[in-house]
Amino acid sequence: MKIAVLKETAAGERRVSATPETVKKFIALGAEVAVEAKAGVTASVADRAYSDVGATVGTREATLAGADIILGVQGPDPETLSGYHPGAWVVAGLNPFGERARVDAYAAAGLEALAMEFMPRITRAQSMDILSSQSNLAGYKAVLDAASEYGRAFPMMMTAAGTISAARVFVMGVGVAGLQAIATARRLGAQVSATDVRSATKEQIESLGAKAIFVENVKGIEGEGSGGYATEMSDEYKAAQAELVSSHIAKQDIVITTALIPGRPAPRLITDAQIATMKPGSVIVDLAVEAGGNVEGAVAGKVANVRGVKIVGYTNVPSRLPADASALFSRNLYNFLSAFWDKEAGRPMLDEEIGNAIRITQGGKVVNPRLLG
Ligand code: NAI
Repeated sequence: MKIAVLKETAAGERRVSATPETVKKFIALGAEVAVEAKAGVTASVADRAYSDVGATVGTREATLAGADIILGVQGPDPETLSGYHPGAWVVAGLNPFGERARVDAYAAAGLEALAMEFMPRITRAQSMDILSSQSNLAGYKAVLDAASEYGRAFPMMMTAAGTISAARVFVMGVGVAGLQAIATARRLGAQVSATDVRSATKEQIESLGAKAIFVENVKGIEGEGSGGYATEMSDEYKAAQAELVSSHIAKQDIVITTALIPGRPAPRLITDAQIATMKPGSVIVDLAVEAGGNVEGAVAGKVANVRGVKIVGYTNVPSRLPADASALFSRNLYNFLSAFWDKEAGRPMLDEEIGNAIRITQGGKVVNPRLLG
């Protein structure tokens, strides 16, 4: 059983899919591990650190030769599939909804592609969940990005020259990223409030010492669909939410939006008219910019300036913390493959529940029901 760890090829991707820690553990399971030269450099892992734990480090071709499992942070570009042999597993964040043409190419190449973001949200799979591990870091980094664009301090400060008041931070969307954003903004001394469509988050917001801003008295506002994810809301709800947000947003210094609905464009939470009510110097961070954006006027990969309000639209935010993001991502992959490791077969054997959830191509076909619609 040979596991290949490739250098990521996507522009701006600085993470790596295995660290020396996880490589060592794979080898302890009996696998052979090959790492492409310089795969870890952008995540502060030198080639030597991999060879020290027993991996072979070499060219892309040598790394791929005879590989049974190819690990990645992102899915491979179809143009780079020549060295992958049919039947090999490709285990990565494959963005199946966003990169549908790639999924078809993986099927055509006879690969068994496993999309880690389709990991079911069940207790035993928590340690394998790349969305959680990466969102957590993105929520933290979003607050730091906001702080660095903000021309003022976050905490209240009493100085001999007078008092500086605390920044007001509003977090919209309180999943994994939002919860970490609340906690981080609180640690920096901001006055924090937050909202979500899932009513279960109210208690979580309050337990972090933030104020919950919620739509009330509107029918059907549980807001929770399968797997703990949000559902699309009714028009009545959306109107009530827009009104509530409008009055709140005008008083905020920083807004962080993280709202996503799986398989759909991100919900639009902030309009240009609402931005117009914010003070110049305010900062909005749109963590959903790659899914279409929660904020009107957000530009992917840029900091837009809209009448003095900065809208931060950085993409691939976890990759802005490449060392920690790689460490957690790599552990997710290891936790997944090792949980199914069959000692006799010397390879992982997936069970139905998880295998069927994450397998997107097999035997030349696209097989995942979420993609077959
Ligand atoms: P996500 O990344 O899909 O969405 C982020 C947040 O945006 C969610 O809280 C969602 O409710 C919210 N949202 C969607 N539409 C909105 C709107 N119109 N207005 C305001 N907010 C809106 O969510 P994430 O971070 O993946 O977490 C979703 C849930 O899944 C959480 O309860 C989390 O604790 C749970 N979870 C469970 C896991 C497990 O059991 N293995 C692993 C990870 C998360």
